[in-house]
Amino acid sequence: MRLTQLSEEHITSVVEAWNGVLAHDRVTEAQFRRVLLEDPNYEPEAVHVAWSDDGSVVGLSACVLRRTPEGKDGGGHEYEFERGHLKAFLVLECPARNEIADALLAAAESYCAQAGKQKLFVTEYTGPYFFPGIDVRHQQICDILAGHGYRDVGTLEDVAVDLRDPSIPDRLARAGERAGPTTEVLTWNPDLLPAMRRFVEEEDERQWFPVGWESQAQWSRPREVALILRRGEEIVGWAQYWPGTPRAGFGPVLVLRRERGKGYGALLLLECMKRAGDQGSENMWAGWANTGFYVACGWHIVRRYAVFVKDLGGAA
Ligand SMILES: CC(C)(COP(=O)(O)OP(=O)(O)OC[C@H]1O[C@@H](n2cnc3c(N)ncnc32)[C@H](O)[C@@H]1OP(=O)(O)O)[C@@H](O)C(=O)NCCC(=O)NCCS
Repeated sequence: MRLTQLSEEHITSVVEAWNGVLAHDRVTEAQFRRVLLEDPNYEPEAVHVAWSDDGSVVGLSACVLRRTPEGKDGGGHEYEFERGHLKAFLVLECPARNEIADALLAAAESYCAQAGKQKLFVTEYTGPYFFPGIDVRHQQICDILAGHGYRDVGTLEDVAVDLRDPSIPDRLARAGERAGPTTEVLTWNPDLLPAMRRFVEEEDERQWFPVGWESQAQWSRPREVALILRRGEEIVGWAQYWPGTPRAGFGPVLVLRRERGKGYGALLLLECMKRAGDQGSENMWAGWANTGFYVACGWHIVRRYAVFVKDLGGAA
């Protein structure tokens, strides 16, 4: 067994091995390239491919880290600067499994430690990610991590809702009444930019509004639909969704801290649900969710991920 860096000609074999192991997180080559190689924080030395003696791919560890608090994607926060992230990890079922896992994890850990990171998170990476943690059905991967000193520190969830629920229009109408006549839901348009800047500055949610967010394509030519909740001249909430059939995507949603608990989040969510339903979507899905909010709004949990952390030691 040996480790190498990932290179272009390995991608087909790596993706094939990936799809054999991570049955619940299958990827295409295009997705693999986009999420891994086109991540602004990608460093080739942080990705290791394990090879068997007969030349087939038997594992992968892919780390990512930010060299400055905001990182090259502009999305990092100071509080997470001590972290490296293992954004992908797989080991083929084979007799040499433990040896492969030892080598891949040691390579990932030493890469992050040398970059000054004190913790390796699997994964909770807010840049381009494949999954927010390890799907709990990938028991073999969870067992390997636990056996290598990784602590299971939490669960993240994906949630979904059936958009054919006939109660949605009435619930939306009630949410609109509760929010009052001075609030209005608007589809994003560039005239809202000055008010949006004030909203973004007040919340400082850099993972959604990285440094330079205004110049990103989504704000000039949205692929997703962004909705704004405005009260008077002030933006108090923002949400986005992706129409699709049969499944629409939702998220993120953000309400000003000082305005939470007034039903604004629910109003934005229900408006997106209604619009996507009207556009032909049968259900809606939100990943890495703030679960309590969605469950209170009638959604249910469809997927669970375990988040693991290993302390790498070293000085602050
Ligand atoms: C999540 C968020 C959008 C909710 O906005 P909000 O305006 O405070 O929500 P609402 O007042 O409309 O609450 C709707 C329901 O959700 C419940 N709820 C809201 N946040 C909740 C939470 N974190 N946990 C449990 N329940 C929650 C409310 O109690 C309410 O329930 P009820 O109808 O039974 O009274 C807001 O807290 C926020 O911006 N959070 C930070 C960003 C975030 O986490 N976004 C979600 C990412 S997936």
